Amino acid sequence: MSPTEAPNAAGSRPAPESNPGAAGPHPVTLTTSDGGLLTFDCAPGLSVLEAAAEAGAALPASCRQGTCGSCHASVTGGAYELGPHSEQALPARDRERDGVLLCRTFPRGPLTAALPYERSRILYGGVPVREATVTAVEPLAPETVRLELRLDDPDCQFDPGQFMELRLPGSEVKRAYSPANTGNWEGRLEFYVRLREGGHFSSYLAHRARPGDRLTVHGPQGAFGLHETGLRPRWFVAGGTGLAPLLAMVRRMAEWQEPQPARLFLGVNESQDVFGLDELAAVAAELPGFRYEVRVWRPGPGWSGPTGTPAEPLAAALPELAGTAPDLYVCGPPPMVDAVLRAATTAGVPPEQIHRERFLAT
Ligand code: FES
Repeated sequence: MSPTEAPNAAGSRPAPESNPGAAGPHPVTLTTSDGGLLTFDCAPGLSVLEAAAEAGAALPASCRQGTCGSCHASVTGGAYELGPHSEQALPARDRERDGVLLCRTFPRGPLTAALPYERSRILYGGVPVREATVTAVEPLAPETVRLELRLDDPDCQFDPGQFMELRLPGSEVKRAYSPANTGNWEGRLEFYVRLREGGHFSSYLAHRARPGDRLTVHGPQGAFGLHETGLRPRWFVAGGTGLAPLLAMVRRMAEWQEPQPARLFLGVNESQDVFGLDELAAVAAELPGFRYEVRVWRPGPGWSGPTGTPAEPLAAALPELAGTAPDLYVCGPPPMVDAVLRAATTAGVPPEQIHRERFLAT
């Protein structure tokens, strides 16, 4: 494998190959985690993600510009060039192990890569696009909003952990959010959105969103989700609105009365940011063996609960399991995810048992 880093400015593409005879198209073979094979040619100038889409296969992806990390894969053979991307989406240690972002991967010869998800996550008919109506917008915390939608199409099936891209009427800008609820036949979608200063969608939610508004929903998409690994314990670690996909997972466990012992660690920055307690209590009431705890990093005077980050109780609890490392599901901002990865690695949790999704500002 021979990656090269393209020094281009963000948003640009790598320069054409210097050897015209090697310009392609180049054959690409992708293997899913359950052994599925996807083969196609990648024309000159196209990323692997774009070439797969041209071949009729929509791979899990969101930003398509190297900033979100949702198109992560591992090259197993062949030469390629990596276009500009953010360090948070693809840290150096991942690059060194031939980790790539397929939206920024340009083959320079025949290429093979491993996808970290099953073949069912590849959408051969393209990403579903449907219209929806806003049914509720309510503040959960000073910078966190709960948004509820109802799809015109009542078929609202998705796997907990997947995300939807939301688009406002008259705008081409899409923002990806993971539902906190589970699949249903009422077209219902519930999101927790962290408002970002100056953010296009944040500005809409903070100032203009009203029940009755119309939105376009692109999805479900994405590869994050529960893995069937027998009775192994499932532990979940969330930072802020990273709770949403993990809440969907434990809600699914409660609906199906799944038997794995489950724990959830939630961290927020300040006491005023705490949310989701009623929802977690409802899961605990329905799901035997489910425990959860909330930590506040910078507590105010009104907070009497535990303080610190969710990585701390996780690091303390992992050795308790002695020999039965749990499956870990992690979603939150990159520093929290990195702290959890360090704690899990130190405790000996095998990498294949760690499933993570980083929340990045896009
Ligand atoms: Fe490739 Fe976002 S889709 S990094």
